[in-house]
Amino acid sequence: MTAPAQGTIESVLVENRVFPPPASLSATARVGSMEAYQALCAEAESDFEGFWANRAREHVQWTKPFTEVLDQSTPPFFKWFQDGELNVSANCLDKHIGTPVENKNAIIFEADDGQVSQITYRELLDRVGAFANALKAQGVQKGDRVLIYMPMTVEGIVAMQACARIGATHSVVFGGFSAKAVNERVIDAGAVLIITANFQMRGGKELPLKAIVDDALAMGGCDTVKKVLVYERTQTAWNKVEGRDLSFGEALAGQSKDCAPVPVNAEHPLFILYTSGSTGKPKGVQHASGGYILWAKMTMEWTFDLQSNDVFWCTADIGWITGHTYIAYGPLAAGATQVVFEGVPTFPNAGRFWQMIERHRVSIFYTAPTAIRSLIKAADSDDKVHPRNWDLSSLRILGSVGEPINPEAWMWYYRNIGGERCPIVDTFWQTENGGHVITPLPGATPLVPGSCTLPLPGIVAQIVDETGKELPNGTGGILVISKPWPSMIRTIWNDPERFKKAYFPEEMGGSIYLAGDGAVRDAKTGYFRITGRIDDVLNVSGHRMGTMEIESALVSKTDLVAEAAVVGRPDDMTGEAICAFVVLKRSRPTGEEAKQIAKELRDWVAKEIGPIAKPKDIRFGDNLPKTRSGKIMRRLLRSIAKGEAITQDTSTLENPAILDQLSDTH
Ligand code: WTA
Repeated sequence: MTAPAQGTIESVLVENRVFPPPASLSATARVGSMEAYQALCAEAESDFEGFWANRAREHVQWTKPFTEVLDQSTPPFFKWFQDGELNVSANCLDKHIGTPVENKNAIIFEADDGQVSQITYRELLDRVGAFANALKAQGVQKGDRVLIYMPMTVEGIVAMQACARIGATHSVVFGGFSAKAVNERVIDAGAVLIITANFQMRGGKELPLKAIVDDALAMGGCDTVKKVLVYERTQTAWNKVEGRDLSFGEALAGQSKDCAPVPVNAEHPLFILYTSGSTGKPKGVQHASGGYILWAKMTMEWTFDLQSNDVFWCTADIGWITGHTYIAYGPLAAGATQVVFEGVPTFPNAGRFWQMIERHRVSIFYTAPTAIRSLIKAADSDDKVHPRNWDLSSLRILGSVGEPINPEAWMWYYRNIGGERCPIVDTFWQTENGGHVITPLPGATPLVPGSCTLPLPGIVAQIVDETGKELPNGTGGILVISKPWPSMIRTIWNDPERFKKAYFPEEMGGSIYLAGDGAVRDAKTGYFRITGRIDDVLNVSGHRMGTMEIESALVSKTDLVAEAAVVGRPDDMTGEAICAFVVLKRSRPTGEEAKQIAKELRDWVAKEIGPIAKPKDIRFGDNLPKTRSGKIMRRLLRSIAKGEAITQDTSTLENPAILDQLSDTH
């Protein structure tokens, strides 16, 4: 659905442009040539389990070694290294003690207001230990679920690591989600404790978090929650419920920094992360411990070629999977120094990212196409925020994630940020994958703008038709991964049936992972290009959202809305934009009144889900285009949303006259 810009000179030329890795980078890279990449692929192919067993021994410290690599006895419930035991936090922190990493900076934190602080691995371990003890003192035990609703701060990472340390399963909820979203996730996960902050600082503004948690708990059904721990990010007072709420200061008072990491089984759920699917209810994607931490560490080295003196910066939020794998876990497991940023790319101005790269001498920079596109626009209109104003010579590798990167944005990133010397790793993956699955390796893979190139060694990615039959290169189809891999989703929390149905369709044999994206492989090179979601999931600014989720939110405004259908349309800035077609319970509004009601509905969706789910367009009709059997014709709605002429056959339409109404943008 997310069509990269087509037809401009650059995108027409794109297929011919190939950017080989710089020789100087290949010379020292962990995977320094296509031959080295192919040798790894061949090793994985000839001895699949042996390949992963070797990687798991190389990258993970086990408290009890595994003897079995992959259990495929009950597909699609694959288990990896299942008789092994480990602790993920020990794999991120304790293992560095006594090595040169111990006193290295783990995190360089830059606050929203520009204040900078550093924390070494030793200090981070002490903070995590004390916080883990505080969780235990509040009764949290191995296997309990803890909901984390925190700003992008060191404290958020400490909270996640502390859960991992005692074997509690965390569920991080992005700080932009609403009280209703928090309430649903608390109930589904059965959380016993919530970790939050009084406020978060973003773009110079103080935004509430604790007050939203209060609202979420007041909505009912959250009896499992016994305690709420509150990080006092700002001086502003917050409402304290006696007996339930504790400030971090109170919770940490008198806690020792020594907390022995609790060994867990390799398959023990490290976290649940809710993401959108084809139905109204978000899915609790459950990840395991052993395979996940293996992937997080290994891909830091493969995809980012992490070296000991690198400064890594991933601009994601810990509320998303990218912030889990490439902030909270991967960089720490790999012993990296990373920048953690609390704020937004446009505050105090749109030069913030470039200024921070210069200030912290960032060498590996990982961000989303949507951020790049908005910063291109800002640089074009205001020379003062153009990246040429800053010294970006510390950079050696760039990364992109979350949505297809259009070739124009790729070229701008390559020239203006990377100075034509830094490879761009366009990493394709999903919440369910745990980490990168299709991506270039910076010292090996020749790059083609707009292509995520080739699968990692051991990832068997294919393009198939509806029956699971592989299609020849050059033909677009459905992206699948036909063998399990260690960091894959284990199940949907509380809903194994939905897990099977959503990802392992019977028509394809029941054990092949369906990614939910369309893709095409280049006829000559076999390179993958992702063409966008093939299900009812939208990708707006790299954020995943289900059309049904937004529809349910709209129709839950029962005093006003009779019916709603939501589709995506391409948007230059956000990749896709949300377009809602709404039938009211009263007559169809026009003009000012339509604008007014559209605003009311947008605010309603923000309250139900979060501001990121607000529809950009809302159109009103007396009805929706339906077939005589009552099915909404979404394809037609997509054309209307795009402003395209309707070329589809409308003869089966019950009520063709409403198409004109729905084209009205009021
Ligand atoms: C899309 C984010 C093209 C894709 C890590 C996928 C991409 C969805 C890329 C997952 C990429 C992610 N090129 N599309 N490099 N990376 N996507 O779960 O549609 O938030 O299915 O995980 O983002 O989004 P999620």
